[in-house]
Amino acid sequence: MIDMTNKRLSVAPMIDWTTTDYRYFARLFNPHVYLYTEMISTGALIYGNRARHLSFDEREHPIVLQLGGADNADMTQCAEFAQQHGYDEVNINVGCPSDRVQHNKIGACLMAEPATVADLVKHMQAAVDIPVTVKHRIGIDDFDSYEFMKEFVETVAAAGCTRFIVHARTAWLQGLSPKQNREIPPLRYEDVYRLKQEFTELDIEINGGIESVDDIAEHLKYIDGVMIGRAFYQNPYLLAEANSLWGEPAPKRSDILAEMYPYLRQQIELGEALPTMARHYLGLFQGLSGARRWRQALSGKPSLTIEDIERAATEVLALNPGI
Ligand SMILES: Cc1cc2nc3c(=O)[nH]c(=O)nc-3n(C[C@H](O)[C@H](O)[C@H](O)COP(=O)(O)O)c2cc1C
Repeated sequence: MIDMTNKRLSVAPMIDWTTTDYRYFARLFNPHVYLYTEMISTGALIYGNRARHLSFDEREHPIVLQLGGADNADMTQCAEFAQQHGYDEVNINVGCPSDRVQHNKIGACLMAEPATVADLVKHMQAAVDIPVTVKHRIGIDDFDSYEFMKEFVETVAAAGCTRFIVHARTAWLQGLSPKQNREIPPLRYEDVYRLKQEFTELDIEINGGIESVDDIAEHLKYIDGVMIGRAFYQNPYLLAEANSLWGEPAPKRSDILAEMYPYLRQQIELGEALPTMARHYLGLFQGLSGARRWRQALSGKPSLTIEDIERAATEVLALNPGI
């Protein structure tokens, strides 16, 4: 078994997916995993509804705020907000390839500007005590050699960043949608392993296409952390199974649901819409009998009630005793 003392498993930042409602749900499956917010732009935090963007439940710890931005003063101010609100870490997005972020010169295009990212780290780290980390790609467009990534990491590490989360694909900034950019550029895990071999003092976390507990365990032989996005979101029970890495049993789905209902009731009282929360729970029974019926019961119903969810869950649990 792997010694998990200095290892980390994380749920990736995902816009529209890793909301506070999703993160609360994810936490019920696994007490160890680091949870990331969606990427939040500095503009949204400085000029928008900051309290709403930053709010989270105490149970979500350890929790990381991911920021999208490139301006030193704005990013520093937002890192301070993160610390004031009790976040455990703040992360800079250097991996998003969308047109919108490219237009604002943030996200993956910052890989071409290691000195800018280093400067951000230096300013942010000087202002807060929580760690400032970076999530990036292995390259962008034709800058896809190992040496390009190495120079990026070397420059940013010299400014004080000690944790790098590497989505092991190049981002192609022209011609591919963000979705295609998560699927088409090939995965190059070996480049991430090499980075760890050459920078033993840094914490290097690997991301991209990892889908099972066996895969996680295999990566952790070479690397300090594994981050998973889609597989955790689409099959949340994988988070429960991952407790085995810590030598712990997976909680039952029925117990997780029993803990969800009070949360949902509380959120409804605060004015949250149930369908908005329930969309995160569609994958709960992935791979089991009745999974489709569960998804149908929860989706596309503006008038969905907690009783509807309880009824659908009772049906699926009856089809799969002991889960
Ligand atoms: C719906 C969606 C939204 C995403 N939003 C973000 C984001 O806000 N910030 C970020 O760094 N990456 C974002 N990503 C990329 C993921 O964090 C992750 O790097 C990518 O999905 C590869 O990991 P996976 O194969 O385990 O899903 C997003 C991915 C998805 C599917």
